[in-house]
Amino acid sequence: MDTPVAERTAALLTRPPAPSIDPVEAIQADRSDDPYGVATAEFYELLATAHWERTGAELIEVLAGVDPTHGPIVDVGAGTGIGLPYLLDAVPGADVHAIEPSRGMRTALHTRLRLDQRLAGRVTVDPRPLREALPERACAIVLSAVLGHLDEIDRYRLWSFAAGQLPPGAPVVAEVLPPYRPIEVEPVRYAAVPVGRFTYEGWQWGEPADDRLMRWTMSYRVVDGAEVIAEQTVQSTYRCWSPDDVSDEVEPFGLTADTHGDAVIVRRP
Ligand SMILES: C[S@@+](CC[C@H](N)C(=O)[O-])C[C@H]1O[C@@H](n2cnc3c(N)ncnc32)[C@H](O)[C@@H]1O
Repeated sequence: MDTPVAERTAALLTRPPAPSIDPVEAIQADRSDDPYGVATAEFYELLATAHWERTGAELIEVLAGVDPTHGPIVDVGAGTGIGLPYLLDAVPGADVHAIEPSRGMRTALHTRLRLDQRLAGRVTVDPRPLREALPERACAIVLSAVLGHLDEIDRYRLWSFAAGQLPPGAPVVAEVLPPYRPIEVEPVRYAAVPVGRFTYEGWQWGEPADDRLMRWTMSYRVVDGAEVIAEQTVQSTYRCWSPDDVSDEVEPFGLTADTHGDAVIVRRP
């Protein structure tokens, strides 16, 4: 009988990571109109599940008590939509305004909506970047693994919207993960997922690009036994944020910031 997928995954993850990665010509994602589309979108849905089991549980706690009559939950950078079921479980009756500018990520997001009628009835997908895509009002905002992608204009629009269009007390939930300042990060295989007879591996490592920017390298491998049959490596930058950085940034907008697990919760008092 076949070994269950969960056991095969656990066995793969306990194997020590390879000591080094062959140098590969990395694609510079930041130079593309669709940085996620160049490689990450293809593998995101397969490799992001473990992250979402933790993030999803936290969101359910933080969003408890949100009143959906004030407007939709805005999911900034919704990606493939892996978090959408958690949002709808957390706030029953809510609609979601899912902002996702990457065509590659939206392809998976649209597929998810097509396959899940509950989501299709409640989720609007806006293909524009944040600065152009905010609705008239909202009951909450979620940014999972997105804050570091936003430039000053996007963030100005975000915090102004939170100060003016969200009801008092409604949460802006922004995931803030270490490192809070750029550092060297050794290669780590963060996921290895068996699908059919192949295994999909996600590798990640990083280095400082300047005093606030990390340059991350992501390598996605399709493995058949001991052989890597396909590999794509992509580099992109991400701005580091600590909870204190968020607090300092939102204060001039009259907003407060508190930490909750891996997230900072910004609110209008
Ligand atoms: C790491 S993914 C996170 C996806 C999803 N939130 C999750 O946690 O699975 C970051 C997402 O942010 C999106 N993004 C990047 N810049 C953006 C912007 N200016 N406005 C809205 N979304 C953006 C990317 O296209 C990508 O899908």
